[in-house]
This record gives sequence, structure tokens and C-alpha cells, in this order.
Amino acid sequence: MSQTDPATIMKQQVARAAVAQVKSGTVVGLGSGSTAAFAIQYLGERLQSGELSNIIGVPTSFQSEVLAKQYGIPLATPNDVDRIHVAIDGADEVDPQKNLIKGGGAAHTREKIVDCLADEFIVVVDGTKLVDLLGTTFLLPVEVLPMALEPVKRAIAALGGEPQLRMAVKKAGPVVTDQGNLVLDVKFPQGIADPASLEKELNNIPGVLENGLFVGAADRILIGEIIDGEPRVREL
Ligand code: 5RP
Repeated sequence: MSQTDPATIMKQQVARAAVAQVKSGTVVGLGSGSTAAFAIQYLGERLQSGELSNIIGVPTSFQSEVLAKQYGIPLATPNDVDRIHVAIDGADEVDPQKNLIKGGGAAHTREKIVDCLADEFIVVVDGTKLVDLLGTTFLLPVEVLPMALEPVKRAIAALGGEPQLRMAVKKAGPVVTDQGNLVLDVKFPQGIADPASLEKELNNIPGVLENGLFVGAADRILIGEIIDGEPRVREL
């Protein structure tokens, strides 16, 4: 993808708008994925230019940790900080109630920890991520301990889901998460009518570490769009 294609421009614009909200002296949750990567870059640039000072980043993945180091952002873990003032992260689907599906980068377990700890969780997406019903354009990621893979698949099928093991690209075998686990991408053929219940039901299955439903977690949804050839950012 070039730096000037519409999808990239929308991601850059919305990431820039979110980073503009960050104030000096704050702890910032650093999301994962291609849109969050631009946010980490812009946060680092504001820090390096002296426009911001005294920022600590809390990464949600190995990807965001590596990027933050590259852009000179001091880092901490959730154990090191009393609070996270703001988190900026992407999403794979957003419904009208601001509920999300995340985990396209298999980072949803740490993302949920960091994003839900934040006083303000700002979601950065392009307009293609907006859906009326969750689960209609994106399969729901579920992180599973490897020794429980088959029983978890059966339990998910009993809930009406159709799980498939996420396979790696440029590596033989499955995707392995930052925690050393596997990811099931689950299709719900009718979509997800009750995301709040499903989020809890999935996490109740022994062997499930975390699923990608983020219900009631997002405070603000910023949407990057191109209208009449001009990039715009609006809030849901
Ligand atoms: C990673 C995520 C990402 O935030 C989500 O997949 C969106 O990524 P992108 O901004 O690349 O579309 O949840 O686990």
C-alpha cells in the first residue's frame, strides 16, 4: 500500500486527530495495527519536537512496543503505572452503540487490558469499519490456550459459532500470539445480536484467554473518511 492511497490517508488523518488530544504529563495506551501505528509515530514526533513532554506509553503488543522504541517514547507496563490517561487504538468493526470487534492483529488480549484501564479510550478507524451489526464483515477473534484448542472449538460451536484456526503468513502453522497462544476466528452466521452476553459467554469457556468483543469500552470513535476527494475526520 502506498503512502498516498485513500485508505492510508484516512488512517493517517484519524491517527493525527487522536494524537492531537494527548496532553503533556500523561500515560498513553499505545494500540496495535496499522492505524495505531501511525498514532505511535505522530505521538513520537510530537514528543521529539518538544511539543509534548513527560509522556509514558503503555504498549498493547510487541508491535507497538517496537514502534514506540523506534520513535523514542518511554515505556511502562500496566503494573508500573497508577493510571492510563488515554488509550488510542484501532478496531476491525464498530457498531452504532460504539461496541467493537478487535483482534485483527491477534493483540486483543493486551489491548483489552490497556484500553479498558484508560480513563479515555479513543478508537481510530476509517469509515469502512462501521457496521450495523457486529460479526457481519469480520470474524470474531478468540485467543485460546493450545492444550484446550479442541474442547474450546466444541464449546464455541455449541454457542452457534463456526471457529477456524488462524494460520500464519510467511511461517508454517498457526498464528501464535504474544502470549504464546492460538487464535480462533469465529463466524456467527447471523451476526452477533447480543455482544454483551457473547463476550461473557466466550470468556467463560475454560481455555479461552480473551475474545475480541469490546462492549461498552470505547469512549470516543474517530472516523477517517474521504469526502469529495478531501480527507475528513468526524466523531461517531
Ligand atoms: C489488533 C487490532 C487492530 O486495532 C485492528 O485489527 C485494526 O487494525 P488496522 O488499524 O490495521 O485496521 O485489534 O489486534
